[in-house]
Amino acid sequence: MSHLLPMPVMRSVAGLRAVVAAWHAEGLRVALVPTMGALHDGHLTLVRRGLELADRVVASVFVNPTQFGPSEDFSAYPRREAVDAELLAGAGAHGLYAPTVAEMYPAGFATTVSVAGVSEGLCGAFRPGHFAGVATVVAKLLLQARPDIALFGEKDYQQLQVIRRMVRDLDIPVSIVGVPTVRDADGLAMSSRNAYLTEAERAIAPALFRTLTQIAARLAAGGPAAEQEDWGAAVLLGAGFASVDYLELRDAESLDRLDRLDRPGRLLVAAHLGKARLLDNIAVTPR
Ligand code: PAJ
Repeated sequence: MSHLLPMPVMRSVAGLRAVVAAWHAEGLRVALVPTMGALHDGHLTLVRRGLELADRVVASVFVNPTQFGPSEDFSAYPRREAVDAELLAGAGAHGLYAPTVAEMYPAGFATTVSVAGVSEGLCGAFRPGHFAGVATVVAKLLLQARPDIALFGEKDYQQLQVIRRMVRDLDIPVSIVGVPTVRDADGLAMSSRNAYLTEAERAIAPALFRTLTQIAARLAAGGPAAEQEDWGAAVLLGAGFASVDYLELRDAESLDRLDRLDRPGRLLVAAHLGKARLLDNIAVTPR
């Protein structure tokens, strides 16, 4: 029935704060789910998990210009707020925060949050400034909404680790909850950018998760990671991917490079297929 209830849409920091403050005054626990919209079941799973952990869930939809590079897809990024609002209400969310760029970055805005270490390498190496844009907007969203918890997907594993590091380092009073990746039936991780794939490319895309799964099994048997990484990249190119930005075994927490699987690891990949740059990652544990 929750989809029949009106769900408030907040456009300003003041509006958002008034709604959250009223919930907190009632003693309710509040969850925030930050998104860039074009919502799919991965996003809605974060909302549903939020509903299990908190009394009220507010989702934000904001296509954040500062995390896109000059040649990236900021203007092409799908925007469909009316559909998103219906999906959120249907999933049981209690509010939507959809600020304008001017509300988020008023004239004179001059502060950037940058997280060293965990932001470097992987996507950080291919998208200069991307994680500073993410960290800055997520810091703002957390301080604007002041939720008790905030949920993020493991789909963007490096982003999740960057946000965990930032929240610890800046003493932001919120619990960060990571949610496992939601996949289509054939294993492809759900992503707003999957919409860029043609039908033929969509048929190739499941090779990404399949290859990660195969490498994870090979790594667990021991041996140097580099051999498996090279094998996996060749498999992806053979399957029809145009290029592989990285395919690397990293420490599951610090994201430091691992030469072999001697502690809990994470295997992360970014590869180009048609107009899309697809990301995926899986946990790998030593036998
Ligand atoms: P966006 O790509 O819209 O993703 C919003 C949240 O949904 C992120 O935490 C992301 O990891 C999660 N998510 C996306 N696909 C998922 C899937 N298949 N399974 C589980 N979770 C998934 O990530 C961003 O937006 C932005 O960088 C943001 C954090 C909002 C800052 O602008």
